[in-house]
Amino acid sequence: MTAAFPALRLRRGRSAPWIRSMLAEHRLHPSDFILPLFICDGQGCEEPIAALPGVSRWTVDRIGARAKQAWEAGIPCVALFPNTPGTLRTANAEEALNPDNLICRAVKAVKDACPDIGVLTDVALDPYTAHGHDGLIDERGCVLNDETTAILVQQALVQAKAGADIVAPSDMMDGRVGAIRTGLEAAGRCDTAIMAYAAKYASAFYGPFRDAVGSGGRMKGDKRGYQMDPANAAEALREVALDIAEGADMVMVKPGMPYLDIVAAVRKRFEVPTFAYQVSGEYAMIEHAAAAGAGDRDALILESLLAFKRAGATGILTYHALDAARLISG
Ligand code: PBG
Repeated sequence: MTAAFPALRLRRGRSAPWIRSMLAEHRLHPSDFILPLFICDGQGCEEPIAALPGVSRWTVDRIGARAKQAWEAGIPCVALFPNTPGTLRTANAEEALNPDNLICRAVKAVKDACPDIGVLTDVALDPYTAHGHDGLIDERGCVLNDETTAILVQQALVQAKAGADIVAPSDMMDGRVGAIRTGLEAAGRCDTAIMAYAAKYASAFYGPFRDAVGSGGRMKGDKRGYQMDPANAAEALREVALDIAEGADMVMVKPGMPYLDIVAAVRKRFEVPTFAYQVSGEYAMIEHAAAAGAGDRDALILESLLAFKRAGATGILTYHALDAARLISG
């Protein structure tokens, strides 16, 4: 039984900052965020990414300082993404398995500069294939599931050996989480966690990311043969159930803001750590909106991130992590 007006006036709870703060159901904390960082080849360089205003690629020698900055702002984990030099991108993505590739060197640099921060690496072949797809393709351009998975297992092992704490398969091959878990166990890497990009949609919001890692211009066709159809919600729950059964420690929904219904449904159904990725196109949307005077940048950032918490997300991968952590901490 609840009271009704006039006995109940909900505005009493909104009447001053102290009571709004006391009654807040959700709040943001710097430990909610994972900061994605882009790595480029070379030395002593910061390369601004035109499609992501305010975000840059950093060379390995500079990436440690970025991670340290994140750690000092209270961010517990960084996600590393390489922009592999074009000459090293091949049909079969051999560079993904090179223990001295850009990502492995970056993982080590981060761990050297900031040993306590968590490091997440993406398991997928798109930064290494000449055609920009997440796996090996057949003559018709169709991504081969089991052949790709075998390589992803090796890729995850190479990353784990370099020091990655969390490997995050973002490729959407069937069965890859189980295969990676088995591979990690067999190699004695029982402490390496898996965050599965469990419900990853074939989204138009990834455009700036593909520019950032240099795969966009190479892409032939699209990823709808392996990433999910934005029309589907029940299927996302099946994907998540499979990944949990295969050994995922944490699951992710991606993109974020347009898929908060999925975040909420996953969290409610499975009660496992559920992350959401506020992807590059979402970041760009906020930046461009703020630059055009359509809203206050800081307020847009914090409101959009709080929405993830309200939906039930355990944490958020966001390019705004550093700004948000600083805004929250005042
Ligand atoms: C690659 C990958 C993508 C993103 C993360 N890992 C792009 C894609 O699937 O094409 C997108 C992240 C973003 O847009 O911010 N497997």
